[in-house]
Amino acid sequence: MSRTQITEDDVARLRTSPTPTYRAAIVGTGFMGRVHAQAVHTAGGRVVGIVGSSVDQAKTALPEMYSDLAFSSLNEALESQHVDVVHVCTPNHLHESVVLAAVDAGKHVVCEKPLSTSAESAALMTAAARDAQRVATVPFVYRFHPMVREARERVRAGDIGTVFLAHGGYLQDWLLRPSDDNWRVDPSLGGPTRAFGDIGSHWCDLLEFVTGDRIVQVSAQLSTVNEHRGDGAPRLVSTEDIVVVQFTTAAGVIGSVVISQVSAGRKNRLVLEISGSTSSLAFDQENAEFLWRGGRASSSVLVRDPETLTPAAARYARIPSGHPQGYQDCFNSFVSDTRSAMGGSWPDGLPTFDDGLRAAKIADAVVASAREHTWVEVGM
Ligand SMILES: NC(=O)c1ccc[n+]([C@@H]2O[C@H](COP(=O)([O-])OP(=O)(O)OC[C@H]3O[C@@H](n4cnc5c(N)ncnc54)[C@H](O)[C@@H]3O)[C@@H](O)[C@H]2O)c1
Repeated sequence: MSRTQITEDDVARLRTSPTPTYRAAIVGTGFMGRVHAQAVHTAGGRVVGIVGSSVDQAKTALPEMYSDLAFSSLNEALESQHVDVVHVCTPNHLHESVVLAAVDAGKHVVCEKPLSTSAESAALMTAAARDAQRVATVPFVYRFHPMVREARERVRAGDIGTVFLAHGGYLQDWLLRPSDDNWRVDPSLGGPTRAFGDIGSHWCDLLEFVTGDRIVQVSAQLSTVNEHRGDGAPRLVSTEDIVVVQFTTAAGVIGSVVISQVSAGRKNRLVLEISGSTSSLAFDQENAEFLWRGGRASSSVLVRDPETLTPAAARYARIPSGHPQGYQDCFNSFVSDTRSAMGGSWPDGLPTFDDGLRAAKIADAVVASAREHTWVEVGM
């Protein structure tokens, strides 16, 4: 049965149970809200309650949210002394106001990407979390694939030599048809960049995470394939379906990335390939159990086997090799690491608001470059 109030029984249960260290309120009950709820549960936390776009809407989501409490408002969740951390899983335009209110209420925060709809707003949120000394993380979850960690360790150890080229893409097809629609299409809800903000941000984060290098300059083209969207009375679309970016990094690596939400047959094809002076590495999110290692004389495919991975990668192998891990496992690991950070032990590679701000700066540069038809420096 669903409820909208914390009862005396709840308080008594919380008092008598061993002190829970990860008591979450989840704001937003769509795709991400549900994934976060499962991750909180798996990480040994507790979803104290949820906030939806309305109380009735939240109540209908309860069965999939590992919770039986629908808060009547965001304020009620923030005023609750039984909430340690707020997960922000709403459309992008709401991230700033929810995060600022949560931090002001003394809560730790997990905020979905893109952190906000502009670099200016993301900077404000990052500063607020830092000033309040709250743990503030962003689910750039592809970092939590063991084979991504393996790639990072190998690049760090010089296993592929000097890196000089990086390329790849993130291709989807869920917005291929003019009738396909979503709040992300509307810039007042999703932000001025749609495809790049939504999935290009993941790719750039992964590149910088694996190489430890930074994109310093971009030259971008945007294309809106479906200029009108929606059933019935289609409306004019101003956000892009495709982004092609050429970039240079601080270390002098050059590269390119293709981002698309209209590539038929591609679902979540995030591919990152890095070429170095002795070998190449390629990671494909849809085949995340493997990492391709290319060599001039011979090439091989590394398998997600905890017995052969470097310790930094084996740490994220949650089940034996041959039983595929996936997207939800990444979220589970991410929340588990966020929980460790809240306990004072900061795991290597945990994506924070600083990383969300970084992605927002790259997104701003991409939009400016496409608008001005020129190379644009990425703010540091
Ligand atoms: N990290 C990732 O891999 C990943 C993947 C998908 C989406 N996301 C991000 O997660 C966020 C949510 O995306 P989604 O795919 O879950 O969208 P969604 O449309 O499935 O869910 C959004 C939810 O927010 C709710 N909502 C709207 N207004 C609200 C309000 N005022 N208060 C509370 N709830 C409100 C809606 O009712 C809906 O349940 C976005 O920022 C998106 O970019 C991240």
